[in-house]
Parts: sequence; structure tokens; C-alpha cells
Amino acid sequence: MADQSSRPVTVKAVQDGPLQIKGGFRLLDPSGEEYDLDGQRVVLLCRCGRSGDQPFCDSSHRATDFRSTDRPACVTGAD
Ligand code: FES
Repeated sequence: MADQSSRPVTVKAVQDGPLQIKGGFRLLDPSGEEYDLDGQRVVLLCRCGRSGDQPFCDSSHRATDFRSTDRPACVTGAD
């Protein structure tokens, strides 16, 4: 099995939802302070602006009409 720590960080735009960040990364607030992710290697960041737990997604987007319009010109490595 491949060493998970050597894999690149991936950022996935979830359709009509958050950005999913997966891998070994640090998440910083606007002042540069690091969020304590308690070892989490996957986080969902809100991009609808409705989460009550910014910058994280709390699934509030599901109760809104938020629709993502991003569509890559070329998709590679989609899972
Ligand atoms: S994307 Fe989920 S609450 Fe904003």
C-alpha cells in the first residue's frame, strides 16, 4: 500500500457543494493562525457562504439554491 503522506494534496470541487481538501496540509485563518484539525486529512470548505461554521461546510448549502458552475475543460483523475 502506498504511503499516504507522500501523496499529493488534492482539492476537489464538489458539485453544488464545498471544496474537499484531502491529504497532508495546513489550514490557516486570515491572520496566519493554523486551525487545529485534530489529525483530519479531509476537510470540506464552504463555498456557498451559508455555513454557520466558516470556513467549514456544515451542509447548509443543501437548503439553498447554491449551484456551482465550475466545469473543467479537461477532467483527469476523477474518482
Ligand atoms: S458549501 Fe456547504 S455550507 Fe457552504
